[in-house]
Amino acid sequence: MTPGWLPARQDKEDLMRLTRLDVQKMKQAGERIAMLTAYDHPSAVLAERAGVPLLLVGDSLGMVVHGHDTTLPVTLDDMVRHAAAVVRGSTRALVVADLPFLTYASEADAVASARRLMQDAGVGAVKLEGGAPVLPGVRRLTGLGVPVMGHLGLTPQAQHQLGLRVQARGAADARQLLDDALALEAAGAFAVVLELVPAPLADAVSRRLHIPTIGIGAGAGCDGQVQVWHDLLGLFPGKSPRHARRYAEIGTLIENALRQYVAEVQAGDFPTAAQSSGMDEAALAEALG
Ligand code: KIV
Repeated sequence: MTPGWLPARQDKEDLMRLTRLDVQKMKQAGERIAMLTAYDHPSAVLAERAGVPLLLVGDSLGMVVHGHDTTLPVTLDDMVRHAAAVVRGSTRALVVADLPFLTYASEADAVASARRLMQDAGVGAVKLEGGAPVLPGVRRLTGLGVPVMGHLGLTPQAQHQLGLRVQARGAADARQLLDDALALEAAGAFAVVLELVPAPLADAVSRRLHIPTIGIGAGAGCDGQVQVWHDLLGLFPGKSPRHARRYAEIGTLIENALRQYVAEVQAGDFPTAAQSSGMDEAALAEALG
């Protein structure tokens, strides 16, 4: 079935990438938004073929791709390299890339960092974490034509301040989160990620905002959901985070395939003639003298 976000008519405009305006229309139409992280060309190709309208090149790549403990070591160069591959692997999805830790601390930094992601990698929007301190940067970027997605609740770049747990359970913090979400909307953000926020709060925030909320561990009341590729596909053995559902056990599948490969090489069962090329016997004899 054609997803709702993919228009049936195929005139020139229909073939263009989705923009923040299409995302806004999805909220207005009550269409739930599925967002997924992608970090390279194959993941972008597969996600788009599956009908994912929003691809996030998250700085979670620091952990799931580069093996760091946190997102903090991720650099702008890392993001540009991965984001460019995701852009090359997709044609219709809106590609959003994270501005990494401390690359948007001032308005000038935010502009310089967003320039690299939009011009050098070709993404359609950037995402940044936090409330009041990032508002001047959000205003500046959106004023210059850069679509910005906010990120509230658990903001992993601030994990040394916040810990890695559900945020805004108390009344004051919950009020602050609502105020921050409204302020991001007023500053021009086109959507806000709500990460590890109590479901009833995320639901209320989603109903007060005109722009869509995209939840991760924030319940079903958000306008959309975002998940990390590796969690959703079961890339790593053991458990995914509580907020994720494992739709496959790709890690086990890969491991079993690799075991079989090793065994077949060791047994001399791979390669066979089917994976090899022949050669004229006379030519070989002449070459070998
Ligand atoms: O970096 C990331 O993947 C994210 C999502 C978890 C929202 O920010």
